Amino acid sequence: MSVVDQPGALAGGGRRLARRLGTEAPNAIARRRAELAAAGIELTDLTDTNPTRHGLFDPAILEVVARHTLRAGRYDPGPRGPWPARAALAERYGGDPEDYWLCASTSEAYGWLFSLLAEPGEAVAVPRPGYPLVEPLARLHSVATRGYPTFYVHPSGWELDRDSLADVVADKAVRAVVVVNPNNPTGAYADAGVVDVAAARGLPLIADEVFFPYRLGVGDEAGGVAGGRIAGHESTLTFGLDGLSKLLAAPQLKVGWIRLSGPRLARAQAGRALDEIADTYLSVNAPVALALPELLGLADGCVARVTARLAANLAIAQAVLNPWRVRTVYGGWMMLLDVPPLMEADALSVALMERAGLYVHPGYFYDLDGTTLAISLLAEEGVFRESCTRLAAALTVLAADRD
Ligand SMILES: Cc1ncc(COP(=O)(O)O)c(C=O)c1O
Repeated sequence: MSVVDQPGALAGGGRRLARRLGTEAPNAIARRRAELAAAGIELTDLTDTNPTRHGLFDPAILEVVARHTLRAGRYDPGPRGPWPARAALAERYGGDPEDYWLCASTSEAYGWLFSLLAEPGEAVAVPRPGYPLVEPLARLHSVATRGYPTFYVHPSGWELDRDSLADVVADKAVRAVVVVNPNNPTGAYADAGVVDVAAARGLPLIADEVFFPYRLGVGDEAGGVAGGRIAGHESTLTFGLDGLSKLLAAPQLKVGWIRLSGPRLARAQAGRALDEIADTYLSVNAPVALALPELLGLADGCVARVTARLAANLAIAQAVLNPWRVRTVYGGWMMLLDVPPLMEADALSVALMERAGLYVHPGYFYDLDGTTLAISLLAEEGVFRESCTRLAAALTVLAADRD
């Protein structure tokens, strides 16, 4: 038990010593998982999206970083990060080197942008279902989130509820629109309507495109902004987020970036404020930032290797789990499986741990129904096939028990 888990640990002599940030007691799934671990029972973690645990890390990355580390003895910090790194990003993605800010991760970039765009108590619009870390990141900056719904139609995929988004952004407290392109865990590329609605209200867009190159569908089928990037968009202030965590399957390198675009005056103002925030932290890792131009040369190979794994696993899931519905996925590292309402969501996850040795997230972690399971597609293919087989067997038994 850590100090913050101890009841009252942050309250000394009746006085509060820290802000309440919503730290909650572990839920039934986390408790059962801990009990099984304590009993020495190992689970296969089908939620794990850490690529370095699935044989997807390219050791050549460390050789490149090691070579550039020798150049990092002299430290020349700047709020945007080294110019050659930004020039390499501009060459790969477009825009000007001055449009890029390096940071430690896209998670950090979210935090910078929440403090840049919203006062405490204001809000940002976020996709529902969506990436669950956005809400706590906003909360750490005293910013609220307002969900805008997307809904699933089989087999074509996810559709934006444009009217609901318009209602959400009509609230003056909403200061920016977050769009995750493609979304995690739905795997849906963004609908052009998100950009239109934000632009019509003059609201900034935070476009998280860390999974953008991991495309599992084809061409225009990806829908939305014709499957195109939002970063670099000019009709409204736009902050494109990306980083090496997904592009090189290397979260431990701790380099991400923000690309700023949009109308000239707003961009200049936002750029000055971003400089101030970035200069306060100076969080960029110099050896990796110096290595970035060469590291980007490894990106396409990495994307091809990881995409081959994702596509193979998706095909395995479609074959092995075919009594249930694998939702259509266009991009990213996750898939969604719809199962019948066998039992309450936490109970189902616990039953899958106990009966199949599998750890699977219930959909409500992502604002999906409890009958939808979110599954990572990163596992090594043999492990993934075996896990799907165990999952299928357990679901079959649970369904028979219910009937
Ligand atoms: C949609 C999305 N954005 C951002 C991140 C965080 O990436 P980083 O490691 O750069 O903070 C993740 C991590 O899984 C993610 O799923």
